Amino acid sequence: MRAEMTIKRAASGVDFSRRIAQNQKDSMPVRQANPDDARGIEALMEEYDMVGSFDYQQCLVIDAGAAGLAGFARMDCVGNRFYIRPIIISTRFQRQGLGKLLVEYLLSIFDDITVIARGSAEGFYRALGFSPIGWEQIDEDFCRECQFCPDLTDCIPVPMRIIQPTRGRSLV
Ligand SMILES: CC(C)(COP(=O)(O)OP(=O)(O)OC[C@H]1O[C@@H](n2cnc3c(N)ncnc32)[C@H](O)[C@@H]1OP(=O)(O)O)[C@@H](O)C(=O)NCCC(=O)NCCS
Repeated sequence: MRAEMTIKRAASGVDFSRRIAQNQKDSMPVRQANPDDARGIEALMEEYDMVGSFDYQQCLVIDAGAAGLAGFARMDCVGNRFYIRPIIISTRFQRQGLGKLLVEYLLSIFDDITVIARGSAEGFYRALGFSPIGWEQIDEDFCRECQFCPDLTDCIPVPMRIIQPTRGRSLV
């Protein structure tokens, strides 16, 4: 059963706002999205012909100030699994460590993260410690979404997962 959640709620007890505050020292802060980010998130998705609208509370963004949003990641919770769906770094900001920054940020909150990687992003996830897993571990709706996606043969999706030593915050 699909559970609606916010990143804050999913952190179950982690003081997320404090983590964000600590990050303000960086020139491009990672922060939880707010309603004003909707257009920026949409623009990032358009760069990759992705469509969909999200609850901003499920998204983290990297704020590049006057240059807009450099990227975002959305967490989705299905059953007791947390999925990155999706992560996007603008082409203007790629290969500068920002995708890694977002995922490491999420890994400081979630011990166990699953993703259906686009084939082209498999190397990115491997570099961050994710390993391929079988489709049987993926939510049925997500499997169907990929199976019937018109981009399937170009995308060549790869289900992947990372499990960190538990810090007692997993919902499993
Ligand atoms: C995949 C994506 C998020 C990576 O973001 P990024 O900011 O460019 O990646 P980073 O600079 O943080 O790279 C982190 C590491 O992954 C590696 N990496 C990044 N992209 C890679 C790729 N396409 N293939 C192989 N390795 C890659 C980098 O070399 C780096 O390794 P290092 O830490 O050893 O130097 C970005 O390319 C993107 O938005 N792509 C389009 C949307 C997409 O496919 N999203 C994933 C959907 S599942």
